[in-house]
Amino acid sequence: MNILVIGSLNADYVANVDHRPQGGETITAESFCVNCGGKGANQAYAAARLGAQVKMLGMTGKDEAGELFKKRLCEAGADVSSIKQLENTPTGMAMITVDKTGENSIVVVRGANGMVDSDYVDSRIEDIKSADILLTQLEIPLETVVYAVKAAKKLGKTIVLDPAPARKDIPHEVFRFIDYIKPNETELEILTGERDCEKGAKKLIEMGVKNVIVSRGAKDCYFLSHSGESFYTRIPKVSVIDTTAAGDSFTGAFAAAKAEGKTDREAVLYAVKVSTVVVTKAGAFDSIPTQKEVDDFFENLQPK
Ligand code: RIB
Repeated sequence: MNILVIGSLNADYVANVDHRPQGGETITAESFCVNCGGKGANQAYAAARLGAQVKMLGMTGKDEAGELFKKRLCEAGADVSSIKQLENTPTGMAMITVDKTGENSIVVVRGANGMVDSDYVDSRIEDIKSADILLTQLEIPLETVVYAVKAAKKLGKTIVLDPAPARKDIPHEVFRFIDYIKPNETELEILTGERDCEKGAKKLIEMGVKNVIVSRGAKDCYFLSHSGESFYTRIPKVSVIDTTAAGDSFTGAFAAAKAEGKTDREAVLYAVKVSTVVVTKAGAFDSIPTQKEVDDFFENLQPK
């Protein structure tokens, strides 16, 4: 099965700091680097590196970052032929501070991601037709996500939505088109008013979503299906370096596993494993493993 990702591509400007600054506070970074990231690109990169057939839809500037994205996604095995490069708009950017616990704060400057519109989706309708799974998030305009989800569902595709960054204004009628949604606890609260994962997941099912996966960081992960199936998965204990792209790689890995025909439980367990590896490394693209790297990691993992 094929995965089509529609979403954002950001050049990540990452400052590693002791603690994340409070309002009015100025601090000095310990190190700085620029990486490829963006929630959409991270998902596409993860699914492709893990061996899935992936095509990425989105926009970059006609600039150095745009070229780098094409190269890096291609190297991972993703099809980048439908990514549009814009003349007068720069590639999106994300200003990220990562503290010594691995937690981050992110400010996104939309750039070309803000230009992804319904005309572009229409122009790529053949890509939607040839995909099996549409994977998306909320770093491109919401109306475009809604448009793409509806277009893909009309064509009978499986829809996976990572509702990040979370927002309250997702039109209610969209939820019934979503086969899988993967909020974290904050996103769940914003979507449903509930922080409790069981209550929040139940609300999403009542809103029309077919299956809900709530990721709760290092705690656990909760799955609830409209069919009544539910389970928790444990998260392996590891030393966290940087949580950037953990959620994106979870969803990318989940989609890759579903594309391979895995059950929901198998796909969730697999996604947990992949995102566990991701938090042990710095950066977005640079932390996302291949299948072999995932296998090696768990072979060598000492119980904590
Ligand atoms: O989820 C992590 C991503 O969020 C980063 O790569 C950054 O680009 C922001 O979009």
